[in-house]
Amino acid sequence: MTLLKIAKMGDPVLSEVSNVVDDPTSEPVKKLLKDMHDTMFDADGTGLAAPQVHSGKRVIMFMAQNSNQKNEKNIDTDFAPLTSLINPSWKPLSEAMEIGWEGCLSIPGLTGAVPRYVNIKYQGYLVDGTILERQATGFHARVFQHEYDHLDGVLYPQRMENLKHLVFTDEAMRHGLPS
Ligand code: NI
Repeated sequence: MTLLKIAKMGDPVLSEVSNVVDDPTSEPVKKLLKDMHDTMFDADGTGLAAPQVHSGKRVIMFMAQNSNQKNEKNIDTDFAPLTSLINPSWKPLSEAMEIGWEGCLSIPGLTGAVPRYVNIKYQGYLVDGTILERQATGFHARVFQHEYDHLDGVLYPQRMENLKHLVFTDEAMRHGLPS
């Protein structure tokens, strides 16, 4: 098991635009995915992007296993098993956005309320070279957009509309989330 060092906000690597991967099936990409997997689970994350582990490649992984139960009709698109994508792309399927709470392994201890598109379609290469295409809603759409932003050097506070809603997670647990 290889644990990679996770870059924290302020490290310039998190502000860079990552490079397209030439061969999604190459051995270095397989090794990167395995190490990212180990690192993400060790850190209790639900998503990780390659720039967070100092690799400037367009590679992300995420899962959305706590589906948003209030949207029962969207139960399939709300959910994603652990998914690794190389050279991902996406587009919103409607203009609708929703504000929700996010954390980031590169911004430890903090949580913030971030607007994201609620209904999106994304695609990307799997490590076997095939293309995966999915529709995503709820937390699934949110975690994808969060990880994708890392590939363009964007961290979630840059998406926030109100910095009053950037708080320490332990204080929020003690006092409740600000409204
Ligand atoms: Ni993040």
